[in-house]
Parts: sequence; structure tokens; C-alpha cells
Amino acid sequence: MAKPKTIYICSQCGYETTKWNGRCPDCGEWNTLEEGVPAVSSSSARSTSSAAVRDISENIFEINDIDVTQREIRWTTGMSELDRVLGGGLVKGSLVLLGGEPGIGKSTLLLQICQTLGEDHTILYVSGEESIRQIKLRAKRLGVDSGNLYLVSETDCEAVCSAIAKEKPEIAIIDSIQTMNISSLTSASGSVTQVRECSNLLMKTAKSLEIPMLIVGHVNKDGAIAGPKVMEHIVDCVLYFEGQKNLPYRILRGIKNRFGSTNEIGVFEMCGEGLQQVANPSEMLLSGRPSDASGCCVACIIEGSRPILAEVQALVTKSAFNVPRRTATGFDYNRMSILIAVLEKRLGFFFGGLDVYMNVVGGLDINEPAADLPVALALYSSLTDKVVSPDIITFGEIGLAGELRSVQRTAQRISEAQRLGFTKCILPVSSLKGIDSSKYSIQIVGVKTIREAFSAALG
Ligand code: TYD
Ligand code: MG
Repeated sequence: MAKPKTIYICSQCGYETTKWNGRCPDCGEWNTLEEGVPAVSSSSARSTSSAAVRDISENIFEINDIDVTQREIRWTTGMSELDRVLGGGLVKGSLVLLGGEPGIGKSTLLLQICQTLGEDHTILYVSGEESIRQIKLRAKRLGVDSGNLYLVSETDCEAVCSAIAKEKPEIAIIDSIQTMNISSLTSASGSVTQVRECSNLLMKTAKSLEIPMLIVGHVNKDGAIAGPKVMEHIVDCVLYFEGQKNLPYRILRGIKNRFGSTNEIGVFEMCGEGLQQVANPSEMLLSGRPSDASGCCVACIIEGSRPILAEVQALVTKSAFNVPRRTATGFDYNRMSILIAVLEKRLGFFFGGLDVYMNVVGGLDINEPAADLPVALALYSSLTDKVVSPDIITFGEIGLAGELRSVQRTAQRISEAQRLGFTKCILPVSSLKGIDSSKYSIQIVGVKTIREAFSAALG
């Protein structure tokens, strides 16, 4: 028998090579090549059995002949925030990957949804991390006592798949893919080879039995799901659970979804009794806002289908260093640098020799062009020490010439601002097309340039 070939696989991008390198030739990351075995290729099988090629011409259909009257079956998870990110519930037969840092609440979320899902469906919860006693204790604390929930503590992926095939649960939960292993592979659990092969095996089981499967995946230090490329191709839906450890808020984000939009977010709060849904994230993000501090401004951004209001804070101070420090949390650093350049060139405000710190309150990431104007306004407010009234809300994209450009979904943003009691909304005038300002009680101010926006906000 031929000796199995050793190859090296990049844990970041999945690149395969026969020679070890300190740096991955494909993605350029250092120290990511791990020893592994090649994916089972069909070429050897092909050469021996060329006579047995299947004829698939029967399976080829014209697009109009395909019957889609039967929509995909969706099950509600009992958490509307999760349902929305999934595109309206858990799709029967789909494979969902839930990623996130350790301790963020992935196991908690999955155990909690078992209560509602367990009312009508049998669930097999496979944990490779905790004993069934530990899970039971947690379930007790979370008030999960569905009689349809079955637990097993196991790490052998083949055994898990055969148990699923035998017991035929209606939903399977795998916590986590990094602890699963196939014993015939020499590499350690959590390595790219193991993750890839286990995912493939689980996918085949899930698809052949039409069982929806929720798989937990831990993220590595750079925030990507370990063995990212290899898994993301395989699953139907990639959800990412994020949040700051010291804040109770958690945001569930759709990264890939074959059954819905990927821009949706779900907001949760980690409490003593597990995760609670936050139906009104704007109220939560704006609570405790200072009313008379400079450098603060409220932005209205769209996350998926929902408008969300978030507070942007900037602090511009004299630098103690030769090269000033600049940081941006929750906003793109490069975008902030561009906005500073626009303020310098077009308005003549100079940030040279000044430190600039920017933060979006609540751990939210606002990388939407509409956040440009509030960010620029917060920077200007801090630089000049003028306070933006807490009743003002803004949004709009800023061009390099200092002009304001229109953004989408203006009506939705204005309605949300009005609902939360803001009295003045400053926005690009070009966004006002088709908007009847008399319908709103909030004062709507359309502006053409940043200069106009600043004078509208600060007088
Ligand atoms: P967990 O779901 O175990 O995280 P993961 O599976 O993503 O690694 O969450 C563990 C954290 O959540 C832990 O730090 C404690 C906290 N927690 C609560 O605050 N309240 C609760 O009711 C539960 C179950 C956990
Ligand atoms: Mg866990």
C-alpha cells in the first residue's frame, strides 16, 4: 500500500502544499500551516471505474419546469431575534454554523431554543465539551425541561452520525465542531483536516436525512471561525455571535445565508437566566447618554431591515507624542482618517498634533456610509468643544469634496428617530426625494455639504 502523503494545510485559508513554510504562500499569514492529510479525492476512484459513470441526464430540468409551489419548511425557534437572522426560522434540512468566541453564549443560546423547538420536535444535543450532567444543570437554570430533548456527550464524529441516522432526531445540535474527531485521521481535534472531514460527514448525514443541524464553531484569535473557508463553503448559513466580554449585550449577525438576507442582526442581553432578547436595541444603545458633552452625536444606521440608533463619541485632545494617536472602535479606522482629511482640506480644521479617539457606544460596529456625517459631526464637536443638542440625529454619506450624498431607506430612519423622541433630523437633501416632511412631527433639515450640516447642528 502506498504511504499516505503528508500535506500542509493553512488553518486560515485552507491552502494546501506539500512543503512546510513559515508563511502561507496564499494568504500570507505566518505560522498557520499545519500537517494534515489530503481531502479524499475522487480521481483515484475515477481511474479504476471509468465504466461506472452515472448518467445524470434524467436529473437535468428546464428552469420553468421546477416545482417551487412548496416553500421550504421553517420552524420557529421561540427567539424572534434568531428567527429573523435565520431569515424567518430554522429551515428544515439546513446546516447552520454558529460561530463566536468562547464564553460568548453559543451553548446557552442553543440550549434555550430547545425549549420551543422541543415542543413539536425531537432534538439530539451532542456536546463534546460538557458532560450531560453539566448540560442538565444549565438547562435547569435556563428553565429548559422539554421531554423531547436528548443529550449525549461524545466526540467521535462517526459515532455521532450513526446515532443520528439510527435515532432520527428531527433536529441535531453539535457543540462544537472543534471537539469532533474522526479516529482514522491522525491529526488532532480542531485541526483543519479534522474540521473539514467532520463537517463533510455531518453535512452528508444532515442532508441525506433532511435534519436541520446547528453546529457550534469557535473562532480563532483573529476572529475567524477556525478552518474558516473549509466550513463556510459547506454550510447553508453562518451566524456569528459577537459582543464584548465586559458588556452584557450580544449581537448575532448573519454572515452567509442561503435562505435569507445576510444583513440582519439580532440583539440579546446575557442575564442571570440566560439570554434575553432585546426588541428595541436603539433604546438600549442610547440609555445613559450624556446631554451636555461635546463630541457626542447620534447616528441612524440600517442593520438588515431595521434602523438602529447608536451614539458616536469622539475625543480630540492635544497629543503628548510626536506622532498623534488615533483609534476607532466600532468604525473603520481608514474611513475615519478620510473624514479627518476632508475636514482639514474642505473646512480648514486641523487635527495635526491632536490625538483622536472614536468610539461607538454599546459595542456596535457601524460600517455603513450613512455613519459618515455623525462621525464627522462628533469629531468637529469635540475639536471645537461645541455641544450637539441631544435631540438631534443625523445620517448621510460624505464625499471627498465635502458634499453629502444620499443614502437608502430615509423614511424608515426618520420614523425610528421620531419614535425615539428626537426633534431634529439632519440628512442629505438628495435623500429627501419622495419624502413628505409634513407627515412627520420631527423637523427635517436637508443639507448639501458638511459645512451646512455643521451649521444646522451647531448653529
Ligand atoms: P456559554 O454559552 O457557555 O458560551 P460558549 O458556549 O459560547 O462558550 O456561555 C457562558 C457564559 O455565559 C459564562 O461566562 C456565563 C454566562 N452565563 C450567564 O451570564 N447567565 C446564564 O444564565 C448562563 C447560562 C451563562
Ligand atoms: Mg459552549
